[in-house]
Amino acid sequence: MKNIRNFIIFSHIDHGKSTLADRFLELTNTIPKEKMRSQFLDMMDLEREKGITIKMQPCRMIYHLKVRNSNPGILDKSEIQNLKQFTDSDLGLSSSEFILNLIDTPGHVDFNYEVSRSLAAVEGGILLVDATKGVQAQTLANLDLAEKEKLVIIPAVNKIDLPHARIEETKAEIAELLKVSKDEIFAISAKNGTNVQSLLEEVIRKIPPPKGDDNKPLRALVFDSKYDAFKGVIIYVRLFDGRVRAADMIYLMQAGIETKIKEVGYFAPTLNQCQELKAGEIGYIATGIKEPSKIRVGETITFTRTKDMVKPLSGYKTPKPMVFASIYPENPDDFDLLKDALNKLKLNDASLIFERETKEFLGRGFKCGFLGSLHAEIVCERLKREFGLNLIISTPSVIYKVIDKKDREDLIFSASDWPDMSYIKEVREPWVRLEIITPVDYLGGVLDLLKQQEAKHIEDKYLTQERLLLVYEAPLRKIIVGFFDKLKGISQGFASMNYEFLGYRTGDLVKLDILIAGRKEDAFSKIVDRKEAFKEGKKIVTKLKEILPAQLFSVPIQAAISGKIIARETIKARRRDVTAPLYGGDVTRKMKLLERQKRGKKKLKEKGRVVIPSKVFLEMFKS
Ligand code: GTP
Repeated sequence: MKNIRNFIIFSHIDHGKSTLADRFLELTNTIPKEKMRSQFLDMMDLEREKGITIKMQPCRMIYHLKVRNSNPGILDKSEIQNLKQFTDSDLGLSSSEFILNLIDTPGHVDFNYEVSRSLAAVEGGILLVDATKGVQAQTLANLDLAEKEKLVIIPAVNKIDLPHARIEETKAEIAELLKVSKDEIFAISAKNGTNVQSLLEEVIRKIPPPKGDDNKPLRALVFDSKYDAFKGVIIYVRLFDGRVRAADMIYLMQAGIETKIKEVGYFAPTLNQCQELKAGEIGYIATGIKEPSKIRVGETITFTRTKDMVKPLSGYKTPKPMVFASIYPENPDDFDLLKDALNKLKLNDASLIFERETKEFLGRGFKCGFLGSLHAEIVCERLKREFGLNLIISTPSVIYKVIDKKDREDLIFSASDWPDMSYIKEVREPWVRLEIITPVDYLGGVLDLLKQQEAKHIEDKYLTQERLLLVYEAPLRKIIVGFFDKLKGISQGFASMNYEFLGYRTGDLVKLDILIAGRKEDAFSKIVDRKEAFKEGKKIVTKLKEILPAQLFSVPIQAAISGKIIARETIKARRRDVTAPLYGGDVTRKMKLLERQKRGKKKLKEKGRVVIPSKVFLEMFKS
């Protein structure tokens, strides 16, 4: 175990984690040269297309430590000697060989649960900061998570090859943040490999080997999983004690079920079967279990025979979904396929939650909880690609708390469930603490944007003379859709943001009803800020006017709050030339026909029901 190092690479989005992992894979000859491609550990097509990491990806590498006295910063002879005394011959490694279990993690805030789960499986991490961007919002957030787990952190400034790299300033920012000397911070280029080998050797030197005892009963933490049609659920595990082999009977302590193991192995980074996994190692177990819902991340695994001797590990906090959206199969017959797909996807995306719901115009579907709107987008895309499903997804919304006059609290996920105003005593909505890091040059635009979101200023902090950390509080409703894109647009991509849930606060929110030909159509209703109700109402009625087909009579489209009309559009009646079949001549006959048409239209209007085609619902549901 003394020759094992378990570590993660973490950073803000795009600071070069996957590229650094590539260099490590090359240095350790983990991937044959001809098979190497950039960002190798981004193994999903979706990750490669979007250029972002979505999933954590573990990978085991073997590194041969060599003495290079001439090169400062790399281990010298006496240090190698020191390491030698820890050699574990059981591992079949020579004294200078190390097993390095790396976990590459995502940088985007919506996939933070992947980072926090990886942290519990490792002893240390490389914190990477892009020298052209400096410390960013997710650098702070991920560092906070790593410090809470008491990980040993190795800081490194990346992209030093770029002409506009600000190496010294970035080092100074990190030194201030970690309270370390600037000399302790590595300066690397993950792209062309500068100083990457020294950094890898620092991992061996600075990150402690795992603790544990392979003679004790098995105790392993499930930190991820996926579904395999032949091997059943494959769990990704970190062993804290004991050993495990194929055909062993294991016991899942939370689920209270047992199963016979089909296979064990490690990540190379694809699944690579091996004889045995031991304390301190990271690997996988093919469980043979076919029901995905039985497996949870954070589960503790032991043997059936040792289940009364082992204390379960503390596991993971359940993630709190921040936004909700409804997902429906385009073809209602695909409901069961969607249910099965969601269950399987949840194995590989532990932050996804879902619950059945039925809507009049869409049939059966699911109300799903996500960590953010990018997460929602990725889940839908994965359902499409990995399970071949065509879906309809609603605009993500936050969860509201409605307190009635008897002080009972109700959670509201969609406007159609909003109670009558006369029952409501108070409405509360989620607020977040928003951290934005921006170059001073874009401050004006960023402040304007924050003002539009009604964000409350908390504090500012200069990271350097040119870069500022702004801390605000804002309603989550204002942040989840479109805010990040606007921020990036205003700052030419230089500003970054992170948010965390603060709690529920009272809001002046109302339900905007939409009436078509005088009839309330609940599917189009929306929860809005009272101040924005007029603008929002106007937007909805204008859009409906555009997409609703004209009727034979004129149709009013109205937006209302508690029965009071606040916006209106009218779709003019469709004209049919009832006199066309007449061949010239008699005016009185023509008048008679027109008169009859007028009476018919009036009758239709009195009957009043406009049949709304489903494509109109779909269009509005998505927008
Ligand atoms: P996420 O996982 O999505 O957060 O991204 P990441 O941190 O894994 O970053 P990734 O390795 O995908 O790199 C982002 C971009 O930066 C890519 O275009 C890389 O080619 C580029 N890049 C990474 N390291 C370097 C470097 O040292 N120098 C230069 N010039 N470019 C780099």
